[in-house]
Amino acid sequence: MIKEGDALKLLKELDDSSTNCVYFDPPFNTGRVFRLASNSEIGFNDVWETDNDYVNLIEPVLVELKRVMKKDASLFFHISAAEMFIPEMLCRKHFKNVQPIFWKKSRSKNNIKKKLGATIDVVFWCCDNNNRKFNMVYQPLDAYYAENSYKNEDERGFYALGHLVNDRTRKTTNLKRLYSYTKDDRTWQPENGWRLSEEDLLSLIEDNRVHFPKGKGNLYRKIYKHESKGKPATDLWDDIHSIAQGGDSRVYPTQKPLGLLERIVEMTTDEGDLVLDPMAGAGTTGLAAKNLNRQYILFDNNPDAIAIMKKRLEQT
Ligand SMILES: C[S@@+](CC[C@H](N)C(=O)[O-])C[C@H]1O[C@@H](n2cnc3c(N)ncnc32)[C@H](O)[C@@H]1O
Repeated sequence: MIKEGDALKLLKELDDSSTNCVYFDPPFNTGRVFRLASNSEIGFNDVWETDNDYVNLIEPVLVELKRVMKKDASLFFHISAAEMFIPEMLCRKHFKNVQPIFWKKSRSKNNIKKKLGATIDVVFWCCDNNNRKFNMVYQPLDAYYAENSYKNEDERGFYALGHLVNDRTRKTTNLKRLYSYTKDDRTWQPENGWRLSEEDLLSLIEDNRVHFPKGKGNLYRKIYKHESKGKPATDLWDDIHSIAQGGDSRVYPTQKPLGLLERIVEMTTDEGDLVLDPMAGAGTTGLAAKNLNRQYILFDNNPDAIAIMKKRLEQT
């Protein structure tokens, strides 16, 4: 669904506890007028007389967004690092659990002479429930790790070594993890215990997924390079390009990259779930939802934005 109008008014039409994920990317309180190009009318004004005026725009919308979220839903509040103070204050006021995700707009160039170039946006991930919906997402492996860790090779391919035994700081109290394993007159019985059950170790060995040292030393799990999905995502997202540097073509002044929205949607929803963006601009959230087989609701009070998002979604 796409609707033109004021977000606060349109949100009142939605039922309580009806959405699985909200992406909120309002004007940032920058004091700027945004236009797609100097000769274009497409854009919106981000000029507020006082910070209080800005709070009065954002806070009632945030309260309504919380009302329409399901118990295990997540809300993402997107803001530039320079303007993060008011959004963080509001997020912490209304949600129990707030985690900042730092998006470093990768390959951002810095052509500013008298100040530091701004490359960081913060996306506050908010929820009220520790059991929020979460699917692990992956980022590319660090280049240094990728180059230096997959040093071993067998008939399956190159592999890195993953720990199978606990170190001193994680000594187990579970007696079932204090077993021994013997092969060819050699016995392994780690004094701080194994990280996996005996049954799981035996099935890894059976599948030739355990590295046996030539001399003394621990057993390790083989982590194959060709099977790696990347590293489980951290709170630093430095692998997604800004619109200016990436492959997305710009159709709206403050448009966000599709990759960013796809990561958010994939991480916190399942197929068929409903994603809401109350100030949707070029409709990037809708595009991400559509690509990943989720449903979407998009609002914006700017008729140009509505026309642009409709066109983008029809073209997909
Ligand atoms: C930062 S842009 C969103 C950009 C979007 N995430 C994208 O990828 O294109 C903020 C949008 O909020 C809209 N907006 C501002 N105030 C609004 C209001 N009260 N109700 C609905 N939309 C509003 C603006 O028209 C603008 O399109």
